Amino acid sequence: MRLKTILTKIHFISGIVLTAFIGLHFFNHFFSIIGPEKHIEIMKLLRPIYRNTISESLLFLAVLLQLCTGSKLRKANQNTQSTPFELIQHWSGIYLAYFLLIHVAAVLIGRYFLKLDTNFYFGAAGLNSFPANLFFIPYYCLGILSFFAHLAAIHNKKMKVHLVGLSPAHQAKIILFFGMVVTLLLLCGFTNQFNGLDLPDAYAIFN
Ligand code: HEM
Repeated sequence: MRLKTILTKIHFISGIVLTAFIGLHFFNHFFSIIGPEKHIEIMKLLRPIYRNTISESLLFLAVLLQLCTGSKLRKANQNTQSTPFELIQHWSGIYLAYFLLIHVAAVLIGRYFLKLDTNFYFGAAGLNSFPANLFFIPYYCLGILSFFAHLAAIHNKKMKVHLVGLSPAHQAKIILFFGMVVTLLLLCGFTNQFNGLDLPDAYAIFN
């Protein structure tokens, strides 16, 4: 088997592992719209699934493989991207690599150096402190959008059939639109547009 085929397969499989976690992660984040307490209640139900030695080792391995194979594939495909969806896949992949590196490192620093529970308030800290939010709002929004954009581009490439009369390209555009709605809702949830936010002192890292 050619090296590029092997890399593509590893990238695809680690991507599926990551997508399964991110699906749970966003499901949890949706509850931020109801309020921090509900978000934390759901997090406590989900943590046993993803925060144990086996799941976390698998998740970190998936992040590592995704970043390594992604950067190799980017170099191999450097001169071949031409359609809008190929360009979306390329640039969203680059941003996701940057986002995942910072995000996972931040969670580990929060957990092991700052000795914080990396819960809702940890995510909300940067989004609700000025001037840190000038970085964190675009950083998180682009992270969520890039995830859906990457998914949409892959869907467009792999999907071969029409669904309810919609072409693969139309289906991919719906995924992109859904990603925009999710981004807006999570931004509202984490800045608590609906409930008002009272950041505990321990999480006032950016004040
Ligand atoms: C609104 C946007 C986001 C916020 C506020 C957020 C917040 C958080 C928090 C608080 C944790 C720690 C979870 C825990 O300790 O139980 C976490 C972990 C993580 N997040 Fe996010 N996240 C966001 C978006 C994303 C996106 C877009 C991705 C991937 C593309 C992602 C990937 C991860 C990963 C891989 C972990 C590590 C899981 C672990 O082992 O604890 N997150 N995030």
